[in-house]
Amino acid sequence: MDNFTFYSPTYFVFGKDEENNTGKYVKRFGGSKVLIHYGGGSVVRSGLLDRVKASLEKEGIAHVELGGVMPNPRSGLVYEGIDLCKKEGVDFVLAVGGGSSIDSAKAIAAGVVYDGDFWDFYKGKPVTEALPIATILTISAAGSEGSPDSVITQEDGMYKRGASGEAFRPAFSILNPALTATLPKYQVACGITDIMAHLFERYFTTTKEVEVIDRMIEGLLLTMVKEGPLAAADPANYDAEANIMWAGMMAHNNSCGVGRVQDWASHDIEHELSAIYDCAHGAGLATVFPAWMAYNMKHDVARFAQLAVRVWGCEMDFQHPENTAKAGIEALKAFSKSIGMPTSFAELGAKEADIEKMAETACYGDGREGTIGGFAKLNKDDVMAIYKLML
Ligand code: NZQ
Ligand code: ZN
Repeated sequence: MDNFTFYSPTYFVFGKDEENNTGKYVKRFGGSKVLIHYGGGSVVRSGLLDRVKASLEKEGIAHVELGGVMPNPRSGLVYEGIDLCKKEGVDFVLAVGGGSSIDSAKAIAAGVVYDGDFWDFYKGKPVTEALPIATILTISAAGSEGSPDSVITQEDGMYKRGASGEAFRPAFSILNPALTATLPKYQVACGITDIMAHLFERYFTTTKEVEVIDRMIEGLLLTMVKEGPLAAADPANYDAEANIMWAGMMAHNNSCGVGRVQDWASHDIEHELSAIYDCAHGAGLATVFPAWMAYNMKHDVARFAQLAVRVWGCEMDFQHPENTAKAGIEALKAFSKSIGMPTSFAELGAKEADIEKMAETACYGDGREGTIGGFAKLNKDDVMAIYKLML
């Protein structure tokens, strides 16, 4: 196991009706004027936004709001949010929604206290300072409620980049699994896929002797395989969602990533798809991961076979472990299909003609210098080959 530090200061509040305590927690964490940031309207329609505002008002906390965050959040709204916060003297940013609203809120929180262009952070400058951020989660997926990360689409060129830093860890996150009941089944399935992808990105490592984290990841994956289909069939299944929501947080606050090299090429490859075609991040990942696995199996067949046996229940072929590894990839594809996820370029609406451009943007520019991935270092040709496997 490699040396590591791990600091995850977020105060998690889990369970039914906890959003009604938002005002109390904002006060505890020092907010006096709040920007409430949300998406395209689901939180308005469900009545959640009104409950959150009532809770702030009960504690005498002033607030302004900015809705309209699109899935795959855009740079333009971030600039708008930064201006609004400066004009209004906002000292606390509260995201109500999914990963997109949370990531946009994080970008605003960093941009408000920075003299330069907030996009500098998305080109690799570490985020060391930001207004305090809090989240009320409405979809289990991105893990941004516990992560030090944010992903934004640059509208000038339509490409996605991530920024990171401890200042991006939320001060508190309210996780009420009942809030996901209004989700379309497709979005639930996208979230399940993203959570599992965050675990795969960490499972595929070159670091040896990492049994404790391997077993944690396998445990979370087994949970997703059991609970995922139940939630995808019925988003109002509280018990299934409760398990998934906590698994989603643990999958991405990096408790399952410490002490090891991680990969993340599949996310970089997917981000091109969701930036250009505006598909859901999870749907893109359902298509990318089996292709990435098939292409990179050669680097450590034993690890792929281990996953196949321990998570998918495949039988070990000791003479030909590559058969076991391949069976694991097929099991993942079958699982994705069973919850309604796409597994091909065509289903995503992606075009073969864009492959070269996507591979170029994935590997170069704004902090990228020719290769991506930690488990397997991929260059532009490798990335093109992976996109082609998805055709
Ligand atoms: O915008 P509204 O109207 O709220 O609708 C959203 C949106 O259309 C809807 N939704 C969310 N909760 C709902 C609901 N509809 C009904 N009832 C509810 N309870 O679902 C749609 C998707 O929302 P979004 O926030 O985009 O989903 P998700 O949480 O999957 O976030 C995706 C974004 O996160 C980034 C992705 O790249 C993508 O941009 N990621 C962020 C990460 C991070 N910050 O650590 C890591 C991830 O790997 C990921 O890259
Ligand atoms: Zn993801």
